[in-house]
Amino acid sequence: MRVVAIDGPAGSGKGTVCKMLAEKENLVYIDTGAMYRCVAYLTLQNNIDITDEDKIVELAKNADIEFVGDKVVLNGMDVTKEIRTMEVTKIVSPVSSIIPLREVLVDMQRKMAESLDVIMEGRDITTVVLPNANYKFYLDASVEERANRRYKENTSKGMSVSYEEILENIKARDYNDMNKPVGALMRTDEQVYIDSTNMTINEVVSKIREIIGRD
Ligand code: DC
Repeated sequence: MRVVAIDGPAGSGKGTVCKMLAEKENLVYIDTGAMYRCVAYLTLQNNIDITDEDKIVELAKNADIEFVGDKVVLNGMDVTKEIRTMEVTKIVSPVSSIIPLREVLVDMQRKMAESLDVIMEGRDITTVVLPNANYKFYLDASVEERANRRYKENTSKGMSVSYEEILENIKARDYNDMNKPVGALMRTDEQVYIDSTNMTINEVVSKIREIIGRD
């Protein structure tokens, strides 16, 4: 099995880079942030208060999350767009702090990597989910550059959220994601650290390909 694990903060380019690497290296791409987003989406859809941890964990246990090509399919429905709205983005970090919920999703993620060659990205993949991955990376960029990338991405999709709102959201998520009691985003000596602030996507992809062995 070939297993590549990538962690990094919101907007560091993990999604784009992993999609390209998956295609070039014949790996299955697993976006674990999308799984937390699916649970946050279900929480909103079912009008569940984000402090009601038991109900949220129950939702996750009964959720069927699949990655079909470029699409995220939740309980048989394509929710690729719905899980990226600002409404979902605002509650996803606190939802992802619920420890028993993390246990449910980490279990699902490990099962997905058991029998497939995968490239999996998130916040705790190199540390908790797949600590024995063949390759581990931490992808970073300055907070302003990350907000700028998200702003451009949203604008190109016709979503009208201001740069300031995105910057504030990313700062709040960084803080929450790095200070969670379980599954916090952190740097370790085992990761290859890549600062992509002044790199193009293609440069980042090439650098990772050099390390994972084929170019
Ligand atoms: O990668 P993303 O921005 O789509 O992730 C959404 C949220 O999910 C993010 O704020 C942190 C959380 N998350 C997590 O706690 N653990 C992961 N492995 C992936 C994401």
